[in-house]
Formats: sequence, structure tokens, C-alpha cells
Amino acid sequence: MTKIPVGVLGATGAVGQKFIKLLENHPWFEVTEVAASERTSGKLYGNAVSWKQVTPVPEAVRDLEVRPCTPDLKCRVVFSGLDAAVAGPIEEDFARAGYVVLSNSKNHRLDEDVPLVIPEVNHEHMGLIPIQKENRKSAGYIVTNANCTTMFLAMALGPIHKAMKIEKVFMVSMQAVSGAGYPGVPSLDILGNVIPFIGGEEEKVEIETRKILGTFNGKSIDLADFPVSAQCNRVAVEDGHTESVSVKLARRTTAAEIADLWRNYSGVPQQLGLPSAPKHPFVVMEAQDRPQPRFDVNRENGMATLVGRIRPCSIFDFKFTLMGHNTVRGAAGASILNAELLKAQGNLE
Ligand SMILES: NC(=O)c1ccc[n+]([C@@H]2O[C@H](COP(=O)([O-])OP(=O)(O)OC[C@H]3O[C@@H](n4cnc5c(N)ncnc54)[C@H](OP(=O)(O)O)[C@@H]3O)[C@@H](O)[C@H]2O)c1
Repeated sequence: MTKIPVGVLGATGAVGQKFIKLLENHPWFEVTEVAASERTSGKLYGNAVSWKQVTPVPEAVRDLEVRPCTPDLKCRVVFSGLDAAVAGPIEEDFARAGYVVLSNSKNHRLDEDVPLVIPEVNHEHMGLIPIQKENRKSAGYIVTNANCTTMFLAMALGPIHKAMKIEKVFMVSMQAVSGAGYPGVPSLDILGNVIPFIGGEEEKVEIETRKILGTFNGKSIDLADFPVSAQCNRVAVEDGHTESVSVKLARRTTAAEIADLWRNYSGVPQQLGLPSAPKHPFVVMEAQDRPQPRFDVNRENGMATLVGRIRPCSIFDFKFTLMGHNTVRGAAGASILNAELLKAQGNLE
């Protein structure tokens, strides 16, 4: 099969680098274009990037010239890891010019005609694509993936909401420093410390979760009608966001029933055998003290949501701990899985 040429916008950043790494040897996609700001454009990628991955810069990308983020790249699909300060209009320009844009940024996630998709949970929200193209008189379109904290919460809640209707959610996060990009939080602020504030994060989690678990009514998304209360903290962990979650349901349940829902869950990416899909979207951990980021973050190549400590809650119905790789499934890996779903659905033709 001839590979589909793709570009990475914001290719020099933390998420951009993860795209480059995850797309190396991808069976369907080949990176032919890298783009970033005027600070780096014109340079060869290997010289422009401050590479922070544990494997070397892929040879196929090292000598590509970094291009400006203008819609004249030789590819039809672009992955965006752009700084949110500039992503909005740049992504719109690309979509208008006919590109398929897979975005990690917050800018378009809540647009009424833009899908915000976790393929295991709400693949049917891709039905917004023709509506977006029609609304915007545009040949291309934008598809977004969730904020890195929302990603794992909404993924874990998906099978539960389908099976037994959620009424309330309370979540406290402990988020890794890699979620703040590079250089991110100064070391003197975070070492031996917890920072109980991440700008805009709680608001994103509270609304994005309801959009992802909402219903596509043929024209738009009806938000899921339960409240989500989030408290987000930055902790001195390199990779892996941990979340403590309490859930109230419309009916009574048991820890065993919840664990079985996750253990037996197979979503569309698993059924279609998409190349980046985790074999098991949920890893249910039995040990009392797991999941832990240091030991578990790379399970299923960083693409699964790890869950554990499922037990009754004395205020809501049950509580549990979850964890996931924030720059893989929580960012670049999520976009790539969305692109694979689009290809399997015939939306990249
Ligand atoms: N880090 C995470 O775990 C994570 C998870 C989910 C979502 N996100 C979102 O993903 C996006 C990228 O985050 P990040 O952590 O990768 O940020 P980052 O490391 O700061 O990288 C930002 C990228 O944007 C480029 N850029 C900045 N200004 C630009 C401009 N005026 N024109 C074109 N390109 C420009 C930078 O290029 P230069 O190198 O040329 O400056 C760089 O490639 C953000 O919207 C963030 O909220 C991040």
C-alpha cells in the first residue's frame, strides 16, 4: 500500500515530537512535511528541534526543512501540536484550503460542528464532518482529540455511561510535568512540591467530558446531562496523569460489575484492528497500590487507560483510580488513532 503523506504542525514542540516518534514506521502514514514558527522555519528539522525523546530523531525526518505553518504543504492530512495561542486560525486556514486537520489544541474542541472524538467511546461524532464542511464551505475539516486529563476520564466513563447512566462525577487529578510542554514548569517550582492549579484545566475537563459522552442527534451534539467537578494538580511525575474519580449512577452497582465492563470492553478501534489501537483499551489492575505512573505508564504502548482501586464511595456510588500516558494517548497517539479511524471510515479519500 502507498503510504498517505502527512504533515506535522508544531513539529518542534513536545506534542509535535511525539507525533514524529509515533509516526516513524507507521503502516499507513508517512511524515513528508514538518512546520513550526518563524523561529525554526527554514532550518533542517534535526537542527531546529530540541529533541527530548529517548530514541534518536527518525532519519526520514531529520533532513526535512521546517516549513512555515501556511497551507501549501505537500500532503492532504496534517497533525497539529501547535501552541494554543496560534492554533485556532492556522488550523482553520488549513481546513479551508482542503486539508484534514487532526488537532490537539483546545481552540476548536467545543465548536458545535467539530468532532471531539475518542474512537472507543464516540466514533459516531465523526458524523459532524459533512455538517462542518457544509457550514464552513470548506473542502477540508478539523477533528479534535480531548485535553490530556479529559481523555482518560471520558474514556473510562464511556462504557459505564452506556451501560448504567451516570448522574454525577467528581475527579481530582495528579498531572505529570510533561503535560506543560517543554521547558514547562520550572524545576524549582515543582521538585518536592504540588501545585494545586493548572490554568483552564478544570473547565476543559468539566465540559469536554460532557461533549464526548454526549449524543450525536444528526445535526449537533447534545451534551451528556450530568455535572463533572474537577480539581487539577501538577505533581513531580515525568509522564502519566493519575486521577481519583467518584461516580454517582442512576442505579446500584458493584465493583465487580464495573471491572467487568472495562475488562470485556472492545471498541471500534479494536474491532477494526486499527494500527495504533491498544489490544485492551482498559487495563484493570488488581493490586491495591496500582496503577502507578512509573511502572504502568507504557502498558499497551501508552494507548490504554489503566484503572484500579474500584471500591464503594460513601458519598457517591463507587470510586476508582485511573492513569494514562498524557503525551501518547493523551495527545499525539489520540490524534493518530482518530486519523486511522477516518481512513477506515473512508474519510481520507
Ligand atoms: N504536552 C501535552 O501533554 C499536551 C497534551 C494535550 C494537548 N496539548 C496541547 O498541544 C499543543 C502543543 O503543546 P506542547 O506541549 O507540544 O507545546 P510546545 O512544546 O510549546 O510546542 C508548541 C509548538 O508550536 C509552535 N509554534 C509556536 N508559535 C507558533 C507560531 N506563531 N506559528 C507556528 N508555530 C508556532 C512551536 O514552534 P517553534 O519551536 O518554532 O517555536 C512548537 O512547535 C497545545 O495546544 C497544548 O495545549 C499538550
